[in-house]
Amino acid sequence: MKKKFEPVLLVASLIFLSPLSIPIAVRSAAQATALAPVPNAQLADRKLNARVEALLKQMTLEEKIGQTVQYSAGFATGPAGSKASYDELVQRGAAGSLINVYGAERTNHYQHIAMEKSRLHIPLLFGMDVIHGDRTTFPVPLGLAASWDPKLIATVARTSAVEARADGIPWVFSPMVDIARDARWGRIVESAGEDPFLGSAIARGWVEGYQQNDLTKPDSVAVSVKHFAAYGAAIAGRDYNATDMSDITLRQVYLPPYRAAVDAGAATVMSSFNSINGVPATANPYTLTQILRKEWGFDGLVVSDWGSVAELLNHAIGPDGATVARKALTAGVDMDMEGNLYATTIAAQVRSGAIPEAVVDEAARRILRVKFALGLFDNPYTTVTPAYEPTAEKRAQARAVGAETIVLLKNDPVEGVGSLLPLGKYAKTVALIGPLADSAKEMLGSWGALGDAKFAISLKQALQERLGDRLLYAKGCGVLAGNDENVLKHVSFIDQENPPSPNVTEAVPDDAKTIAEAVETAKKADVAILALGENADWMTGEASSRAYLDLPGNQEKLLEAVAATGKPVVLIMFTGRPNAIKWAGAHLPAIVEAWYPGMEGGHAVADILFGDVNPSAKSPVSFPRATGQEPLYYAQMPTGRPAHVDLSHIPSNAVEKFVSRYIDEENSALFPFGWGLSYTRFSYSQPTVDKAQVSLQDMAQGHGPGLTVGVDVRNTGSVAGTEVVQLYLRNTSSSVEQPVRELKGFQRVALAPGESKHVEFPLGFDELSFYNAESKRVVEPTTYKVFAGGSSLASKETSFEVK
Ligand code: BGC
Repeated sequence: MKKKFEPVLLVASLIFLSPLSIPIAVRSAAQATALAPVPNAQLADRKLNARVEALLKQMTLEEKIGQTVQYSAGFATGPAGSKASYDELVQRGAAGSLINVYGAERTNHYQHIAMEKSRLHIPLLFGMDVIHGDRTTFPVPLGLAASWDPKLIATVARTSAVEARADGIPWVFSPMVDIARDARWGRIVESAGEDPFLGSAIARGWVEGYQQNDLTKPDSVAVSVKHFAAYGAAIAGRDYNATDMSDITLRQVYLPPYRAAVDAGAATVMSSFNSINGVPATANPYTLTQILRKEWGFDGLVVSDWGSVAELLNHAIGPDGATVARKALTAGVDMDMEGNLYATTIAAQVRSGAIPEAVVDEAARRILRVKFALGLFDNPYTTVTPAYEPTAEKRAQARAVGAETIVLLKNDPVEGVGSLLPLGKYAKTVALIGPLADSAKEMLGSWGALGDAKFAISLKQALQERLGDRLLYAKGCGVLAGNDENVLKHVSFIDQENPPSPNVTEAVPDDAKTIAEAVETAKKADVAILALGENADWMTGEASSRAYLDLPGNQEKLLEAVAATGKPVVLIMFTGRPNAIKWAGAHLPAIVEAWYPGMEGGHAVADILFGDVNPSAKSPVSFPRATGQEPLYYAQMPTGRPAHVDLSHIPSNAVEKFVSRYIDEENSALFPFGWGLSYTRFSYSQPTVDKAQVSLQDMAQGHGPGLTVGVDVRNTGSVAGTEVVQLYLRNTSSSVEQPVRELKGFQRVALAPGESKHVEFPLGFDELSFYNAESKRVVEPTTYKVFAGGSSLASKETSFEVK
């Protein structure tokens, strides 16, 4: 969206003396409030708002409240959905939005009632969880983030938007931009991982692709940025749990991706289930009004999460439904998703004077704005089109995107073979083993929207196409085993409503026998490919936190037994999180993280295995060695007692003993953030800066980049490849301590063999500022260390000063 107005100066203030007498360049929250630009010009449009106001004047209190009420009139995506007569509610103007209803016929059915039978002919807003594709299923969001390619993500959003509109859906509950640093949390799969800088770039990609800077386009959809805020910081990685953090961490780590999405014009935001520092996010005036509306200038609508208004009762912030509904509405939640409290408690409170009618007006106004911006008043219906077909073009897109998301974690040389991947001539007979090898459904991942397993390609199918009878197959074991009793019970409970594929959920009764069979299969082959991981639907995603991050069931046993044959083993992980695969990391020559790679997943993995596509993805999360390391992320804060010794070093004195480390595990990740190999190699020059010193004054003015870092990257191998060049900073002296390193730039660079390119990274206020103890965003005089390289371990270094 074009901004309604651009402030002349980004900062009104220049250089201050801080209480400690450090000169700082400042942008305070208060200044941000005064200057907040309107991020979505369409929602601020004068004509549009005149139509909204004219309509509001005609509405009764009940009709205005009706706009704030949302029901799921289709499948349930939370505990017990409502069961009401939606025809009647819509006709009465008592529901402004329906979710989980899809398809032109069904959505038109309700829309006809709204447009023709309701008093004011206000269209319904249909919403759905289109997360990584509508019908064409792309890799899960964590995988998409591994592409480090916001443009690619925008193309995924484009295809999804076109299909969603054909399904009658102008509003998608995506992107999920919660920073996720704890792999126990099941919803890490829906996230872009652990880093605010990468997460923000990816958030922009989603919004631009879905909304195209123009909501009136018939193939644009409004996004819902979720889950606001800090849902990913659930304590202990347990879904829906409280979050508790400093204001600095909130603003510096967790809020940036939401902000990036809002700045990109996001039309709607979803409030989250969790509490933040004791105040539930769905009744939180600080995040919803102060930050979102006042500081960021957000003009769109805020919808609650499923039932999160009613769940305020469980948070015990009020004695009854009326009180908590009032708290949510006045804090800034405009629409109640499946909570049924706005519908039943608000009118009486307005009549009694407990809630000013202006509050209801404002919520209805924000909702109507989005409906007008989407053009729904003028074009409320969806044209009925032929049923979805996964055309060659869609398959090609899904396959190409899939391959860009697959991370080559390890690829060591094997004696007599060389690098195990890509599979070369030596691999005449290939043994494919494991519970995820023959599962098309699992390729789709969790939250697959309307994706259909019948269109999905399993790894077995893809390898069979290439190898014919040179492919041997053995399942080996189930995803779970008889001893995973709790998980099994959980799965079979859900089973009643939405059966997961039996292939991956049923325990194989005699694992010893099937593991022995798999071992025999491996012995007949030149190489064994093990397809292991988690059940996509019920071990990853919402309500799927895990306390054990290693391979579930008997998969580790299977892996070790096959590896004991001495045959070279490639491990392919189909998972929604970085699992703890320490043994594999130490003993296997090749490991591929495929996440859930989408409808064309099998083909995409095969393209990587055979080298048709040279892997370029980099992990957006740190892989733990052990569950106990979680939450694990590279941008750790410094400690007064850093550990310079690893586990192999037995402390010989107290100085070595009393450092920040585990006694039974390393601190570091098994595979760090930003890590991913290629079939070629890249070398880096020393990074350089165009200025050794930048002035604090320039920073404060916010005029252009303060300096530019340059680095040369060369393809030193023999095949073409793409490298994600990463730039990290370390602030060496600040009033509030800063992480030991932080990503502040990245670029994908395609290089032919022998080719070298110069890559530049501009650094300005946005990259160099941080929040100080007064929650002011500042740049302070300091020296920055600069690291450039192909992962968060980047070691080529330079520095510059801010003075
Ligand atoms: C999830 C949201 C989702 C909503 C609607 C909730 O349970 O937390 O991410 O958008 O349901 O389906």
